[in-house]
Amino acid sequence: MFNDLRITPSILNADHTNLNAEIAKIAKDSDLVHLDIMDNLFVPNLTWDFAAAEKIIADCPIPVDAHLMINDVDRIALDYARAGAGSVTIHIEASKSPMQTFRSLRKIGARAGMALKPGTEIELYSDLLNEIDMLLIMTVEPGFGGQKFMTDMMNKVRRSKALIGDRPIWIQVDGGVSMETIAIAREAGADTFVAGSAVFNSPDPGEMVKMLRHRASDL
Ligand code: DX5
Ligand code: ZN
Repeated sequence: MFNDLRITPSILNADHTNLNAEIAKIAKDSDLVHLDIMDNLFVPNLTWDFAAAEKIIADCPIPVDAHLMINDVDRIALDYARAGAGSVTIHIEASKSPMQTFRSLRKIGARAGMALKPGTEIELYSDLLNEIDMLLIMTVEPGFGGQKFMTDMMNKVRRSKALIGDRPIWIQVDGGVSMETIAIAREAGADTFVAGSAVFNSPDPGEMVKMLRHRASDL
């Protein structure tokens, strides 16, 4: 029925010493690879620096969906776009000039994404909806994989979908997405699903991506 959906596995909890092999397990069944960038300031965790991220983007056989959980994000976001990320998402809480950043991202050729932490309401930023290609609604507090899906964010997903109307903006959820929760998010209106531990803790990550897609398409 509704097939316009995307699965974007997060490699945060994959084996970082063997990333190309980890990505190879999921690439053919996935739409984009979700890359979580953390600076130990915006969130209390640290992941890849830009040089390492640039290499991951260059080596990745499918487009990278960069999720930037970093302070002073506006300048570096453009570097991710120039490095070839298919989609670059900035947290609205970390941006000083979001409109300008979204416009520059699109000009460079990346999809522009706006992320909201659980405590941030969409209504404050509805004027930016014309500037973005994806809205990321966090379903955990950003920082770590393996947390519990916040079902109470589904109200925000529904309100966002109504505000978006017929604009071609993807609605992504990130955090705690699994075979149990993906249907809840899909029913609320999400169409783009990050799954980290559900995919990489599974004995067959590629198969899990297919199963998640099937579960979300089933509705
Ligand atoms: C958390 C990250 C997520 C994380 C999701 O801040 O943004 O992308 O990797 O991991 P799971 O699916 O395990 O919640
Ligand atoms: Zn993420």
